[in-house]
Amino acid sequence: MCGITGFIGSDGAIQIALESLKRLEYRGYDSVGIAYPQNNHIAVVRATGNISRLHDRLGGDVPDVAVAIAHTRWATHGQPTEANAHPHQDCSGQIAVAHNGIIENYGPLRDELQRMGHRFSSETDTEVLPHLIEHYLHEAGDLVEAVRLSLRRVEGSYAVAVISTRYPGGVIVARKDSPLVIGLAEGSKLIASDIPAVLPYTKDVLILEDGDVVVVTPGAVILTDISGKTAHRSPTRVGWSIEEAEKGGYSHYMLKEIHEEPVAVRNALRGRIDNDRAILEGLTISPADWRRFQRVEIVACGTAYHAGLVGKRLMEQILRIPTEAVIASEFRYSDPLVDEKTLVLLISQSGETADTLAAMREAKQRGAYTLAIVNVMGSTLAREADGVIYTQAGPEIGVASTKAYLAQLAVIHLLAIHWAQQIDAPFLNDGVSRPLLVNELERLPDLIASALQGEPHIKSLADRLADRSCFIYLGRGYDFAAAMEAALKLKEISYIHAEAYAAGEMKHGPLALIEPGVVVIGLATQPTTNLKLWSNLKEVKARNGTVVVVHTEGESVPDGSDYQISIPPAPPSLMPAIALVPLQLLAYHIANARGCPIDQPRNLAKSVTVE
Ligand code: M6R
Repeated sequence: MCGITGFIGSDGAIQIALESLKRLEYRGYDSVGIAYPQNNHIAVVRATGNISRLHDRLGGDVPDVAVAIAHTRWATHGQPTEANAHPHQDCSGQIAVAHNGIIENYGPLRDELQRMGHRFSSETDTEVLPHLIEHYLHEAGDLVEAVRLSLRRVEGSYAVAVISTRYPGGVIVARKDSPLVIGLAEGSKLIASDIPAVLPYTKDVLILEDGDVVVVTPGAVILTDISGKTAHRSPTRVGWSIEEAEKGGYSHYMLKEIHEEPVAVRNALRGRIDNDRAILEGLTISPADWRRFQRVEIVACGTAYHAGLVGKRLMEQILRIPTEAVIASEFRYSDPLVDEKTLVLLISQSGETADTLAAMREAKQRGAYTLAIVNVMGSTLAREADGVIYTQAGPEIGVASTKAYLAQLAVIHLLAIHWAQQIDAPFLNDGVSRPLLVNELERLPDLIASALQGEPHIKSLADRLADRSCFIYLGRGYDFAAAMEAALKLKEISYIHAEAYAAGEMKHGPLALIEPGVVVIGLATQPTTNLKLWSNLKEVKARNGTVVVVHTEGESVPDGSDYQISIPPAPPSLMPAIALVPLQLLAYHIANARGCPIDQPRNLAKSVTVE
C-alpha cells in the first residue's frame, strides 16, 4: 500500500530508484512518480497507471543524477490522477515530498496554509507537508529542523522522504506508524518501504522506528529523533537472499510461495521442537504468568484472522481457556473486555497492518499481555508487542497470503503446546495426545509437500470450473475455519463471488442459492463431522449444484460428488494447513485461466497500513 524508494549516491539515481520501486509493486498502487534535484530546481515526473507509464514520461534520455526519490501511490485522499500522484511540491518548487500513511489533520493544516498564501495543486492529505516545510524553512532557516517542526504538527501516520535544492546531495526521511528502511551500501544509500527493494544492493539495513528523523547522504546516516536529539542504532543484516525475494522461475509470486510452503513450515518449526515438547525460546512469560491468563483474544485481519479461527478451537481444546478470534477493526472500537488476566495474541504477516497495530495498543493500554505472531522481522508489531514469535516463513510478496498462513498455523500449534506444557493442561485434543500432535506437527512439511503433488489434477479441475460465477465453501469445526480462508483466496485473486458457511447453516438460508452452475466445495477432513457434511453436500447435489469434496486419503466420499480432491490425513487441528494447499492452488489456477493479475489484484494492497 503505497511505496517509497530512493537512491543517494553519485550517479544512476533515477534508474536505481525505479528498479527498487518495481520490487514494491506487490504492495499495490494506481499512480507513480519520481523527483530529483537537477540544475538548481527539483524535477518531478508523475504518471497514472504503472511504472512503465512513468518510464514513457521520462523518455529515452533519462538524466544521470545522484539523488532521487520515487513513489507508488494507492489512492486514499483524491482520485488516482497525475495531480494527486507523489512526490508533491511546495509553492517555490524547491522541496518535494513522498509520503506513505494518512495525515488525519490535513484539513485544518491546509486551511491554515492557504490563509498564509500557499497554493495547493492536489486533493491529497500529503501536500500539506511540502508547504509546511516551506513555511518552517523561512522560520528556522534549516531544512532538517523545518522537517522536524512540520512533522510535529502532523496527526496520523507517515513514512516520508524529502528532497530539496537546499540539500541536493541528500534525502531526509522520517517515520511514524508506517515502515521505512535505509539500505547501507558502500558509497551509496537506498531508502525503501520494504527490505526486498534494497536487497540487490545491500543486505545491511537500518530499520527506522517511530519518531526517527534521519539525514541520509552517500557516505553517512545521521539519526535523530523528532526533537533533534542524536540517536544510535545498529543495522540489521538481512538473512534472505535476493532469489528468495524474487519469482525464481514461477510465473507468479503466489505460485512460488505456495511451492515454498513445505520449507516455510519447516523453518517455522526449526529449533522449536525437542522430542515431544515445543520450545519457544525468547518468550519471557513465566509458568506463573501462563497460569494467570484466564482469557485469550486472538486479533488479526484477513488471512491472519482465519489462522486465528484455527487457534481459537485449538487453544480451547488443549488449554480449556476461553478464547475468541476477533477481527482487528472490530476489536479496536468494541470497548474490549481485556485486562491483565488476558493474553491478546496478534497475528500478522507484515506486522504493519494498521488495525492490528491499533488493537495491540488498545489491549496494552488496558493491561493485557500482548503477544505477536509476525513474519516480518523488525516490523512495528514485532517491536511494540510485549512478546513476539516469528513465523520465519521468508518474504511473502504476492498480495494473496499463502505460505504465511501455513506458517502461522504451525506457530499457533507450537504456542498452544508450549502453553499446555507450562500449565500441565489436560490436553483434550480430539483424543490426540501431546506427543502424537508434536510428532505430526514435525511431519507437517512432508504432508504439505505430498499435497502439492496433486497440482496437475487441481489445474485440470480449475480449467473446468474457471467460468463459474458462484462458489460456496462448506465445512464444520476446523474445516469451517479452512473454508473461510479458501473462499478469501478465490475471491481476492479471481474476482469470483465466493463465500464460506458453517455447513450446518446451509438450510438456514444459503441453500436457496443452489442452482445448476453453483459450485459447492465441501471440506470433509474431520472424522467427527464428516457424515454430517456429506448430508449437506447431498442436499446440494439434489438441487443440481456442482459438488467438489476435499477428503482425506483412504476415506470414502459421498455418492454423487462431481469432483474429489484427496489430501494426506493428520490430526484434526492440522487439516486446515493441508487442505489449503490444493485450495490455494485451485484459486491460483482459476485466476490464471481467467487472465487475472494474480500478484496484484485490483483494489488490494499487500500491507494495509491505513484503516
Ligand atoms: O500483514 P497481515 O497479515 O496483517 O495482513 C492481513 C490481511 O491484510 C491479509 O491477510 C489479507 O487478507 C491478504 N490479502 C489475504 O490473502
